[in-house]
Amino acid sequence: MPSLLNTAADAVIKRIHRSPFYYRKYNNTLSYRLNKLYIDFARECSQKYAADHPGVILPPSPIKDTPAVAFRGVFSKEKARAISEKMGQLIESKDPSAYFPPHKQGGGLMAEIRSPLKTLGADSVEAFRDPAVHDALLRFFGGNYRIKGAAAWRSFATKEEDAVSWLWHSDTNPPFTCKMFVHLTPANAEKGATELMNREDTMAYRRAGYFGQFGNERRSDLDAFAKEHGLPYRPLRIDVEAGDATLFDQNFLHRAVAPKSGYRDVIQFLMIPSLISWDEDYKQNPERLLSAEGGFPKDPRRPDGSGSAMM
Ligand SMILES: [Fe+2]
Repeated sequence: MPSLLNTAADAVIKRIHRSPFYYRKYNNTLSYRLNKLYIDFARECSQKYAADHPGVILPPSPIKDTPAVAFRGVFSKEKARAISEKMGQLIESKDPSAYFPPHKQGGGLMAEIRSPLKTLGADSVEAFRDPAVHDALLRFFGGNYRIKGAAAWRSFATKEEDAVSWLWHSDTNPPFTCKMFVHLTPANAEKGATELMNREDTMAYRRAGYFGQFGNERRSDLDAFAKEHGLPYRPLRIDVEAGDATLFDQNFLHRAVAPKSGYRDVIQFLMIPSLISWDEDYKQNPERLLSAEGGFPKDPRRPDGSGSAMM
């Protein structure tokens, strides 16, 4: 009975992926094969960077234990406002590039802009030329990185009782991947913002059985879960202005909080390890970056494919 055997094997594998040794090592619950692919490739990229830059020592990443860091004014406020206005036009005119997800996936709470670097222009990529941003990314990767994914969305205000209805989750991406938001509008208590847990607390929630990986196991009331299990509940929120960026490890637990009034616009980038710098990669493959959507590749050496958090 292969299906029963498969089910039993799947249960064993899931238990291994959810054991403390495993998730502490990889900060995710993905397959060993995928984790090894990323770690091996990141090591190779790091060794190449070291060979190309003798004497350069990269300090530890600023988001090793802290869930997120902000960079102020990496992008001009005027440019941010112009992109935000364009987003508004595409959404209001129900342009084909504007996607309104079904209710279960945040419908009514947001609108997404597809292929944002094409539809909104590639100006936001300039955020990567900010020296502090580039330095933080070099430190995270231990070498070069490239921009794999781009996504943009507008979060709408909701009723007070629904304002925190987004669910706590881990993106469950491979190691040596991270995300950066370029903020086109302010994010704060009024306009909503992402809330994030640090490494220590994320591990404590996982130990207590909360992984937030699959849709049906994610919840919005993590404070209630914390109370039940005697855990600290101390999410970090960083207030930002239009033109600021926040860099974060998307595998730590986090959630979006809807604005209480107005809307919040964000462009999100996903980065993966690379043998060459992001702008060299951009020069060599402009079309690939411009048409980038979300998702990590199943093999970081072949960045055109995309993967899934279900692996
Ligand atoms: Fe997320």
